[in-house]
Amino acid sequence: MKLGILISGRGSNMLALARAAGEGRIPGAELAVVISDQRDAQGLAHAAAMGLETLLIERRGRPRAEHDREIIAALRAHKVELVCLAGYMRLLSPVFIEAFRGRTLNIHPSLLPAFPGLDAQRQALAHGVKWTGCTVHFVDETLDAGPIIALRVVPVEDDDTVETLAARILVEEHNLYTEAVALVASGHYKIEGRRVLVKK
Ligand code: GRF
Repeated sequence: MKLGILISGRGSNMLALARAAGEGRIPGAELAVVISDQRDAQGLAHAAAMGLETLLIERRGRPRAEHDREIIAALRAHKVELVCLAGYMRLLSPVFIEAFRGRTLNIHPSLLPAFPGLDAQRQALAHGVKWTGCTVHFVDETLDAGPIIALRVVPVEDDDTVETLAARILVEEHNLYTEAVALVASGHYKIEGRRVLVKK
């Protein structure tokens, strides 16, 4: 199964997936292309340095759907079957969601449905929760509310700052995303309503 990863920034989840795929930890998966909408995304340079196929597809002031159509065309040209959002900071248009329905994943740094949207780690600290974590889910028209594939719990320590909490969550993100992509790539799951169930 060919993977395409969309990024906008640092790209650490993209690198974790790229390494996992390269080392055979996502059986049957191959990373076909990394696409950034940001010219200065650090992850773009890291991906290129790893010898991965990279593309920059900037919005250039175009309407969202038009930008997304260019990304869809690039993903199709690379025969991508599964799209992983990894710190991709633009909302996807219905055109994109329809084109890759059930085949687009996202990772979010909270235990969804708590703290969707931006600054999830800051939201968790501000709320005073004692546990938070990260979630991998299918992308649909909702914001961070598509069917949950997997999540991982991380403790909040009394002396945490947004940065220390984000760093603790990020370690788990890298493992969780790899596991979730491996599950989806294996096809050993079924969706019942909103529930993503592992096939026995
Ligand atoms: C991660 O915390 C991810 O959960 C969120 O954006 C951040 C991206 O980090 N969606 P990176 O670019 O993968 O390092």
